[in-house]
Amino acid sequence: MASAMKFYYYAKKQPAVRTSSNSPSSPDTRLEEFKKRFRRSGSLGIPFVPEENVRELFTDLGSPYRSGSPFFGRQPSIREDEEDHELEGLPVLTVIVKSAREVTNITTMIEGLPVKCRVKHMETRDCEDGADGQIEVLMELEMEKGMTNDEALAVMRSNGLNVYEVSFTIKPITEENYIEPGSNDATTGSEWFPKSIYDLDICAKRVIMYGAGLDADHPGFKDDEYRKRRMMFADIALNYKHGESIPRIEYSESERKTWGVIYKKLRELHKKYACKEYLDNFEQLERHCGYSEDNVPQLEDICRFLKAKTGFRVRPVAGYLSARDFLAGLAFRVFFCTQYVRHQADPFYTPEPDTVHEIMGHMPLFADPDFAQFSQEIGLASLGASEEDLKKLATLYFFSIEFGLSLEADNSSENKENLENGKPQKKHTYKVYGAGLLSSAGELQANF
Ligand SMILES: [Fe+2]
Repeated sequence: MASAMKFYYYAKKQPAVRTSSNSPSSPDTRLEEFKKRFRRSGSLGIPFVPEENVRELFTDLGSPYRSGSPFFGRQPSIREDEEDHELEGLPVLTVIVKSAREVTNITTMIEGLPVKCRVKHMETRDCEDGADGQIEVLMELEMEKGMTNDEALAVMRSNGLNVYEVSFTIKPITEENYIEPGSNDATTGSEWFPKSIYDLDICAKRVIMYGAGLDADHPGFKDDEYRKRRMMFADIALNYKHGESIPRIEYSESERKTWGVIYKKLRELHKKYACKEYLDNFEQLERHCGYSEDNVPQLEDICRFLKAKTGFRVRPVAGYLSARDFLAGLAFRVFFCTQYVRHQADPFYTPEPDTVHEIMGHMPLFADPDFAQFSQEIGLASLGASEEDLKKLATLYFFSIEFGLSLEADNSSENKENLENGKPQKKHTYKVYGAGLLSSAGELQANF
């Protein structure tokens, strides 16, 4: 992520120590509930609805929820206050339809939707009850103004659909002009956030700065060739879609030389300062993903490696993303990764994250299960978070994943002055796990 390399103050501060996931007694039950839903389907599935924003009015546990029904035992629909239905706006109904997996059945299901509605979002997933040969299709339907959810559901049921209502909201009329994500989420009222891993294609395009807009103090500002090269990388990233192979880059001699200089220097420093997990995984990356002084590894190879190790993926990004978009990727175990190399004029300085920072700094620890889980926890908490909470999460990310230190036992020595029950205790020393430090020779040398 965005991590300017000029920071020198953090070593004077309390080091961030790696933590385990939230304890079961955490009061934030909303987040826990959200995560359970997330894990069940492998994607967001049911939208996250903050309880304080809605009121359950469902009183009729009628036919859809009766014993024997596929929806028996489920939570009833969450609806906004009836008074809100008087508001002018676009009705948005979110439903789950249960269908056989065969294409013909899915086609029939779509034909059974009300004519006077538009499909805003659709995704499929395995049935919650594990029914074989069937899937659940979650749909967000924008309906014609004035149409009620009962009318829409009646149409679907009369057309033979096995349908369960998830939520019904009135999208304020002022939001109808918003086309790009960034508007409020129709269901939750919070900032838009990705509901499935495919939605990260939208986040990846919302780049704040890339090659065309280098600042005047950027080392490549006056280098036309470098700027052209950056545009090529931006083009690859902006056209990339989830699920595709990441295009392989033929790095130039100059780029390989820059990489090699940094690689050699950092590997010396890592032996002294990096935490054990980083060092162990780095060796694996050297064995399996072409990490070496003479070769810039390809993101596609790293992506395959990480997927096998921890389920993390990487995808190319053209430059800086907002904290909200960037952290959203972590929720889906996706890390936005630049592919361009910093300008050759100063190999040990970059004003922005480049592929050296990503590949040397971040990748080894995403192969560690605990670190991967911790990263995802931050991402999950960021989805739909308020601006205030998002700032706190971005700060947590910054002082852990980018600039975190951990306490590590020194197995080679015992501290005879520190006895516990008469036994000498091992010394503990601070080691680095933050990518901003591990990818910067200047930072490592200046702070330890
Ligand atoms: Fe970073």
